[in-house]
Amino acid sequence: MNIFEQRESSIRAYSRVYPTVFAKAQNARQTDENGKEYIDFFAGAGVLNFGHNNPRMKQALIDYLQDDGVLHSLDMQTTAKAKFMERYTEVILQPRNMPHRMQFMGPTGTNAVEAALKLARRATGRNEVVAFSHGFHGMTLGALAATANQYFRNASGVPLLHVRHEPFGCEVQCRGCEANCGIGALQSLAARYRDSSSGMAPPAAFLVETIQAEGGVNVASKEWMKALAALAKELGSVLIVDDIQVGCGRTGNYFSFDDLDIEPDIVCLAKGIGGIGTPLAMNLVHPDLDRHWSPGEHTGTFRGQNLSFVAGTEALSYFETPEFMEQVAAKADVMREHLQPLLKSDSSLQLRGKGMILGLDVGNGERAAAVVKRCFEDGLLLATCGTGGRVLKLIPPLTIPEADLLQGLGIMSDAVRAVMEEAA
Ligand SMILES: Cc1ncc(COP(=O)(O)O)c(C=O)c1O
Repeated sequence: MNIFEQRESSIRAYSRVYPTVFAKAQNARQTDENGKEYIDFFAGAGVLNFGHNNPRMKQALIDYLQDDGVLHSLDMQTTAKAKFMERYTEVILQPRNMPHRMQFMGPTGTNAVEAALKLARRATGRNEVVAFSHGFHGMTLGALAATANQYFRNASGVPLLHVRHEPFGCEVQCRGCEANCGIGALQSLAARYRDSSSGMAPPAAFLVETIQAEGGVNVASKEWMKALAALAKELGSVLIVDDIQVGCGRTGNYFSFDDLDIEPDIVCLAKGIGGIGTPLAMNLVHPDLDRHWSPGEHTGTFRGQNLSFVAGTEALSYFETPEFMEQVAAKADVMREHLQPLLKSDSSLQLRGKGMILGLDVGNGERAAAVVKRCFEDGLLLATCGTGGRVLKLIPPLTIPEADLLQGLGIMSDAVRAVMEEAA
């Protein structure tokens, strides 16, 4: 028994899926303590968009440490924080005419969602929030109430209140899903809100992922997202886009909603925003809402971590020119093309996704787990998502070299073929 089996809490999860001890990592590869290399199609669930130990970010961190830069500062003003905020304004916000303010909180996604929910409720004076089927927003109680997965909800120990779960508006209906989702369901929800005798009061907020990553790589249709944004506006509700997993370049745009023609009031960001895996969470908050906060009301010891600001500032340079996003689009095409023969050979498989997040639905969780196990043995790290874990999630670093991408896709295709044949 190793130290993890002896002493780590029984809650450990990924270490059971990947039963080895990782020692080193570079870009899209991790090496375990025995020297075995793995191609990483998991990338810290969307944290490592710029790869493991990104050399530019690593150098910036080394320089900052050498210079005795401030490491911890609560939410005080530091040079690292100023640089990050200035560059973020220049590279991301100004080109989009976004007047949003930056709010930093404890450095996890769930904390960003908590802050967004609090502010929406405060600003509107309303309790209820609308979230969506298959949505995932985090594990703390407020965010968990908006998370749909029953396994996680069951661990709460208290009732999860003040959230209404409505059907998500998938671009393509998930195979095997009988739910009445999509634009029809949203229109019916809108009609109930408009009927003053429906018994429904307008919500404080609509909380939505444009692509439900943990939920099974379900991509919302543009029509549905626009209708949702219009409904939020009509009802005076706050539109919160949770871009924690699919923001920061994942879809081929900086924000996943850049091409959706919507204007969120709050955007929740975490994971990739800290650049190299250094933790950071940030909400972009419209100034009309931001004025409802009083100083320190959503506090936290690690509100903005200076090493994360340093690496996060370096990450922004990837978005200064269109080149990086063009590379992401090209790699996304490679991924889709490579999987075509597999899809043609087995019509029960369904591929969903956008940019460099793809989900391959293999029908049930047992098959998906068997594929992940084979991939691990063959040197590929892959995760599952969706109901019962039936979807293989491909979310490699955006910086992955094409050779690694092709090798990983090859390992995965072989594993899927073998598992599907065994199941037939
Ligand atoms: C869309 C989304 N929101 C929120 C979270 C929660 O983030 P964290 O695990 O950092 O609390 C996640 C994590 O996977 C996520 O994918």
